[in-house]
Amino acid sequence: MIYLIAILVIGGLFVSLAILLLVAERYLVRYGPCAVGINEGSSVLKVQGGGTLLAALYENKVFIPSACGGKGSCGYCKVMVVAGGGPILPTETPFLNRVEMRSGMRLACQVKIKQDMEIRIPEDLLNVKQYQARVSLVRELTRDIKEVEFDLLDPEAIEQRPGQYVQIQAPGPEGPVFRAYSISSPMYEKRHVQLNVRLVPGGIASTYIHGLKAGDPVVLTGAYGEFRLSEDPDREIVCVGGGCGMAPMRNIIYSLYRRWPDRSCWLFFGCRSTRDVFYLEEYRQLAKQHPNFKIVYALSDPLGPGESWDGETGFIHLAVDKKLIPGINRQAFLCGPPPMIEAVIDVLKSKGLTDAAIFYDKF
Ligand SMILES: Cc1cc2nc3c(=O)[nH]c(=O)nc-3n(C[C@H](O)[C@H](O)[C@H](O)COP(=O)(O)OP(=O)(O)OC[C@H]3O[C@@H](n4cnc5c(N)ncnc54)[C@H](O)[C@@H]3O)c2cc1C
Ligand code: FES
Repeated sequence: MIYLIAILVIGGLFVSLAILLLVAERYLVRYGPCAVGINEGSSVLKVQGGGTLLAALYENKVFIPSACGGKGSCGYCKVMVVAGGGPILPTETPFLNRVEMRSGMRLACQVKIKQDMEIRIPEDLLNVKQYQARVSLVRELTRDIKEVEFDLLDPEAIEQRPGQYVQIQAPGPEGPVFRAYSISSPMYEKRHVQLNVRLVPGGIASTYIHGLKAGDPVVLTGAYGEFRLSEDPDREIVCVGGGCGMAPMRNIIYSLYRRWPDRSCWLFFGCRSTRDVFYLEEYRQLAKQHPNFKIVYALSDPLGPGESWDGETGFIHLAVDKKLIPGINRQAFLCGPPPMIEAVIDVLKSKGLTDAAIFYDKF
């Protein structure tokens, strides 16, 4: 009993001390101006200490991916901190592997600037821009997915690779929030950006985007994302999407056929019922011009009242398993809910694809 009381007292003391330190840091500590050096002196930002690294970079127009808007739940905002970052926080460890931790990788939304810092950022990210845009078109694709198109006003054009995404700024209850949306318009359409956005009930950004109408102003940043389409024309491309994960597939397919009209490409798309099918007719027209384009839609629950479907049924990874023969030189891009991605990766590996040939965005 005495041990229990001792543990409770000591535990209570630690908790009170931690709360005291947090309160003191928030309201009493002033860090003053700090310097954040980027890429070995290629630029040095003068910032006010006390805020997060992510916010300081954003204020200085260095746009780091931050799909969860800085909540520490996406793990996208990784930046290498060479000096001045302090110890890794418990909120960062779930997103960092051992190699990353040893190399100084950190989550920019969790690291606070308390002293001068030195960081490394991939050159690609230094080219990410903020765009003032205007909604030019809104179209319903399904009961909960809208196609939304933005004309870019300033700057007027975007450089993007198929499979990349932009971040939309939406008004949140405590200030602006940022969410990632894959670009569905092909890379050669540089003057506008098109998205496919599913309405998440109660979701801040998706509700905002679904409420937009032609003429509304929007702020976005981009383009982000690692996917690089193989330049080898003999390499077959396999796109697998589910739910609202169609956008990057559309970008990849149209960009691909503009450059390589004879290239072999599969599109597998999984959704629940005929009410969730979109772009199928458009792709069928495209396949008439490009016979090496093969389309497989699979419905997991096709037999609603009045519905008819003569295509594939069941989960999409089963259709991938059925249609792909092993051993072909391939690159794959997957986009959709995490369980779908995991199941498709297993199938693709059984067909001979390596990790390096499989790219994915889970959402
Ligand atoms: C790289 C990347 C690309 C993406 N591309 C697209 C895209 O092309 N189209 C698209 O529609 N979305 C896409 N997303 C998802 C998108 O960024 C948002 O997460 C989504 O729109 C929800 O944001 P919200 O602000 O509306 O919801 P929030 O306000 O963030 O969330 C509200 C509630 O919904 C839950 N929630 C959040 N996301 C989902 C979800 N996807 N399904 C179910 N519940 C959820 C949250 O846990 C929370 O409880 C992408 C995400 C990533 C990381
Ligand atoms: S912005 Fe999502 S974890 Fe940092």
